[in-house]
Amino acid sequence: MAESYRNIVILTGAGISAESGLATFRSSNGLWNNHRVEDVASVEGFERNPELVHDFYNNLKTEIQTARPNAAHLAITRLQREYPAAVSVITQNVDTLHEKAGSKEVWHIHGQINQAVCLNCSRIMESWSDVTTETACPHCSVSGMMKPNIVFFGENLLYMDKVDRLLAECDLFISIGTSGVVYPAAAFVQIAKAHGAETWEFTLEPTSNNYYFDHHIYGPAGKTFPPFVDSLIKEAETR
Ligand code: APR
Repeated sequence: MAESYRNIVILTGAGISAESGLATFRSSNGLWNNHRVEDVASVEGFERNPELVHDFYNNLKTEIQTARPNAAHLAITRLQREYPAAVSVITQNVDTLHEKAGSKEVWHIHGQINQAVCLNCSRIMESWSDVTTETACPHCSVSGMMKPNIVFFGENLLYMDKVDRLLAECDLFISIGTSGVVYPAAAFVQIAKAHGAETWEFTLEPTSNNYYFDHHIYGPAGKTFPPFVDSLIKEAETR
C-alpha cells in the first residue's frame, strides 16, 4: 500500500450487493441461471417481447427498492468522506445501493433500474413504478416507446468518456464483487494498471482477470472491505 493516493477508482459488480440480499448473475442461483440473457438483456429480446423484458425489470425493481446497503457500500461512503483523495465509483450494478449508502460520484455504466429511456426523444424518466409497453414518456408524451434504461448486451456503455478519464488519472484501482468476464468493464483494471495504478481485487474467489491485480482479498466484501478502508484512513492520518 503506498503512502498516499490522490485519485481512487472503485469498480463494483453484483457481488457487492449480495450481502444486501440481491442475486448476482453467475453464481449457482444467479439471475442468468434462471433467465436467458438473450430474452431479457438483449436488443433483439426486447424487440421480440418487450412485455417479458418490462416484467423482468419491474420485478427486479421491486426487489431492489426494499434492499438496504451493506457494510461494503457504507465503507465506500466513509472512504469518500474521510480519505483526502478523489474517490469515484464506477458500478456495473443497476441497483441504487451506493446512493442509498450516501456515496457520491457514482457512475452506472450498465444503467439504472429506476430509470427508463424514451426511444422517441431519448430522454430519461426516473421512476420506481412499473414501466410497460403502454407507459407514456413524461417529456414528449409519446406512449409505448419506453425501454428500461439498462444497457443490453451489444449496446454501448454509459459514461465511457468519464470512465476513460478516471482510469487514466487513478493511482489506486479497487474492484469489488465482479467476476471480470464482461467487457469492456473487465478491462478497466488493465487500463488503470497501464497508467500506473496499484490494483486490488475483493471477491469470493479468483476471477478471470485476476492476473492484472496486484492484491487479492477473498471473502465477503462486507467483512473484508471495511477493515481495508480503516487502514487507508489510518495511513492518511499518520502522514
Ligand atoms: N463479496 C465479494 N464478492 C462477492 C460476494 C460478496 N459477498 N458475493 C459474490 N461475489 C463475487 C463473486 O465471487 C463473483 O466474482 O461477485 C462476483 C459476481 O459476479 P457476476 O455474478 O458475474 O456479476 P458481475 O461481475 O457484476 O457481472 C457483470 O454482467 O450480465 C452482466 O450486466 C450484468 O453488470 C453485470 C455484468
